[in-house]
Amino acid sequence: MATILGIESSCDETSASICIDGEIRSNIISNQTVHEKFGGVVPELASRAHQQNIIPTVSEAIRVAKIHKNEIDAIAFTRGPGLLGSLLVGTSFAKAFALARNIPLIEVNHMQGHILAHFIDAPKPSFPFLCLTVSGGHTQIVLVKDYFEMELIGQTIDDAAGEAFDKTAKILNLPYPGGPLVDKLAKEGVPRFTFPEPQIKDFDFSFSGLKTSILYFVQQNIKQNPSFLEENINDICASVQHRIISILLKKLKSAANHLQVIDVAIAGGVSANSGLRSSLMSLAEKEHWNVFIPKFEYCTDNAAMIAIAGYYKYLSQDFVSQEIAPLARWNVSN
Ligand code: KG4
Ligand code: ZN
Repeated sequence: MATILGIESSCDETSASICIDGEIRSNIISNQTVHEKFGGVVPELASRAHQQNIIPTVSEAIRVAKIHKNEIDAIAFTRGPGLLGSLLVGTSFAKAFALARNIPLIEVNHMQGHILAHFIDAPKPSFPFLCLTVSGGHTQIVLVKDYFEMELIGQTIDDAAGEAFDKTAKILNLPYPGGPLVDKLAKEGVPRFTFPEPQIKDFDFSFSGLKTSILYFVQQNIKQNPSFLEENINDICASVQHRIISILLKKLKSAANHLQVIDVAIAGGVSANSGLRSSLMSLAEKEHWNVFIPKFEYCTDNAAMIAIAGYYKYLSQDFVSQEIAPLARWNVSN
């Protein structure tokens, strides 16, 4: 039996999870509301909120899993990438817990964690598979050869897909984080406005031009009709979402064809987007892919994905020492 405590604190969610023999028994996520009035995550406030949240969140994860803390065999934590101050809270907690209980410490790469969330529930992908990881800070196409052997095939050269959603929401006067709200409004709209598609080489992405074209589009239309935004909000959201999805899936399709991979997955916060999920399913049917879409609770940041990654590292006794320090930047491939 292996009981792993997973800790996630890379951005603005404090999360703790218990995984027993590869099965998630609890996954507690404390969201930080303090950032709402600033329209984005304020790093210093995030680390303070993590400090307040971490002990109650871990206690709750242990309580829900119906175990005693003495039964935990190892502690896995997000080492990076992310906000350094936030990562420090999770890393310090994990080191102290491991030291006090004399149990092994396991480092997890947050981007690998998003991908390994696919190993929580069946059906699980088989290696090699291609994963489109789309979050607030990253947009990557990754060839997953084994649990911890991953190759970066393409990535954004500027903004991430989640950032494109969040910045669009800001232009449309919608609250942060904008992704879920744009998704909701898009369901009521028609994608009748056309936004340009960036011409970027190979399997890389760019979203900063899209943001600028949305800004000009809105400004010009408001000049002619001051209520343009209110009258057309659903159609604007549907059009922006449509363009973001078409950019993502076009590159995913060409990468899958190029690499001749038919097992295809999505991961990260933006994989919760209903338009992306349904468009991917239609594309998969046409391309004869086996497609893997995570449950909603494993799309956005959560500790279950860190605990499951920790479990696979535990099986190969891949531990780190107390000297370990967090990393603000860390490639998915190492
Ligand atoms: O993976 P995640 O929770 O955190 C990072 O590691 O960045 O991703 C957060 C991002 C935010 O940009 C948020 O707006 C976006 O995921 N997001 C969505 C949806 N739910 C979350 N974007 C589009 N549609 C959604 N339903
Ligand atoms: Zn994330």
